[in-house]
Amino acid sequence: MINLTDSDIKKSTKILETLLANTYLLALKTQNYHWNIVSPNFTMLHELFGNQYEALSDAIDEIAERIRMLGERTPATFYKFLKLTTLTENDDIKIAEAMITTLLNDHEQLILELRTTLKALDDSDDEGTIDFLIGRLREHEKTAWMLRSHLSL
Ligand SMILES: [Fe+2]
Repeated sequence: MINLTDSDIKKSTKILETLLANTYLLALKTQNYHWNIVSPNFTMLHELFGNQYEALSDAIDEIAERIRMLGERTPATFYKFLKLTTLTENDDIKIAEAMITTLLNDHEQLILELRTTLKALDDSDDEGTIDFLIGRLREHEKTAWMLRSHLSL
């Protein structure tokens, strides 16, 4: 296998499972807003959310496959994702600015959770997962900046 202790594998898997569920929820929420947005800036925001949905979708596959690389089985049902996620669904939002703020808050929450998570992996030898999580952190920081830049001051 990949020469990690059971304890390191379990620790990484638990973190990746939560991240997978959160990324799945955030992808669906972003896709929801891509479909349902009504705004004078429809084309721009429809495309912005569409691109962000696609990026999250790619990340979902990478997170799930990282769990498989550790030799564990990946969760892959809505039931499990809803149990694992730390985000909440927001299906009742109709105003474009509130959609942007909601997505921004979720990305910022994931940034904070990823930073806490990385500290918890300080003594782990699973550098592959640590590096992967740092990459996800950077992606959420970039998306948060883009969303934030669409909000008026
Ligand atoms: Fe679309």
